[in-house]
Amino acid sequence: MAVRNVLKMGDSFLYRKAEPVAAFSTQELDTLVADMFETMASLNGAGLAAPQIGVSKRVVIFGVEANPRYPNADPVPTTVLVNPRWTPIGEDMEEGWEGCLSVPGLRGMVNRYRNLRYQGFDQNGQSIDRTVSGFHARVVQHECDHLDGILYPMRLKDIRLLGYEEALFPNL
Ligand code: NI
Repeated sequence: MAVRNVLKMGDSFLYRKAEPVAAFSTQELDTLVADMFETMASLNGAGLAAPQIGVSKRVVIFGVEANPRYPNADPVPTTVLVNPRWTPIGEDMEEGWEGCLSVPGLRGMVNRYRNLRYQGFDQNGQSIDRTVSGFHARVVQHECDHLDGILYPMRLKDIRLLGYEEALFPNL
């Protein structure tokens, strides 16, 4: 296991579409997932996608207990999601502040679906099928975007709602 370098916005690798994982329960996938968790933990992240550490595979991880970077976030179960798909439930959208380990120091206000169903597999091929809302749904949309080469600033409606953490949240 190793903490890996996280690519930053501007690196063209982040704008690629990632490839599906073809085989489960492999050493390669286990090592990737372990490295992703170690990297995410080292940076207090809420989620991480494989392309952020330079691996063009459709693998994301996420999970929030008490996270100092997201003090008001509801808990999200620690999850490995391989080859994910999601569909909105209803048309309700919700604005919320997002951050990204590939965009360090900044937050932006992004509109996301409030409710969705997501499906995929863990690293051993066990299927995952959940219906979620709110912050959990936001994290899934953000991480799955990475697999299609989309970073949250590309979804900003108002560039003024992108800023440095210490300027936006001086009391945090
Ligand atoms: Ni991100």
